[in-house]
Amino acid sequence: MSYQFLTIERNGSVERVTLNRPDVRNAFNEHVIAELTTWATRAHHDPSLRVVVMAGAGKVFSAGADAAWMAKMAAYSHDDNVRDARAGAEMFLAINTIPVIVIGRIQGAALGGGSGLAAVCDIVVADTDAIFGFTETKLGILPAMISPYVLQKIGASAARELFLTGARFNAAKAKAIGLVHDVVPANELDAAVDRYVAEALTASPTAVARAKRLIPDVLGHAPGDVIGITADAIAAQRVSQEGQEGLKAFLEKRTPAWTAKP
Ligand code: COA
Repeated sequence: MSYQFLTIERNGSVERVTLNRPDVRNAFNEHVIAELTTWATRAHHDPSLRVVVMAGAGKVFSAGADAAWMAKMAAYSHDDNVRDARAGAEMFLAINTIPVIVIGRIQGAALGGGSGLAAVCDIVVADTDAIFGFTETKLGILPAMISPYVLQKIGASAARELFLTGARFNAAKAKAIGLVHDVVPANELDAAVDRYVAEALTASPTAVARAKRLIPDVLGHAPGDVIGITADAIAAQRVSQEGQEGLKAFLEKRTPAWTAKP
């Protein structure tokens, strides 16, 4: 599969996907959305994939939705607008549910949908000078398609400030509200990402997939209402091949068979 706006590099079970429209700061239009959706759909069905690093080429990670693309939507019918917007929403859903660890590498800026892309990553590492923002209201539009994922990360209180004002904020604040997990100087960004990749490769692939599924299944429910889901999940996993391998490896003081080096 060849892509026009994405660069894909594979190293064993680790895939790096790089948004590649640096001239417009990796803003995404309908073509980028289609390519990212195709890539994410493929990633869902790749049994040898264990870690994804999501990155952006050039100075910034992503400036979000392409303003020129959205401006031209005024010439489209309401139905065509909804169809186009749904394609974007499906892209975020497809990335959000990839059953492996997705690491976001954020340099420079992640704005609008760029911050939304950060929100659908499991682990986000940003450089100290990176700026973030749900800037949509400043452009007269809304952070709509990204809202479910951003709300799960930052909660309603931070969203009420940041969605409504569209204010830009720094990496330290992004970390404080839960959008970012680690902030490092720009020249240490790749080393930090590599550390998370190495850590990810020590976790059981089936346990990772099931743990990632468990979070949205449990979130927002009363503990008593999810006893069935949580009991079923651990009952199935501890007798699975990897469950048994991991428990035995611990007791035998050895490394589990799934452990890989980057
Ligand atoms: N959509 C379309 N084009 C965009 C864009 C976007 N979201 N963001 C940047 N670009 C274009 C600029 O128009 C400019 O094009 P030009 O070279 O033809 O003038 C080019 O990318 C470079 O942008 P510039 O602002 O000069 O780059 P910078 O490195 O100084 O700043 C950003 C980078 C990301 C901080 C800045 O471009 C920015 O704030 N972009 C808007 C982000 C935003 O609000 N996104 C929300 C969209 S919903």
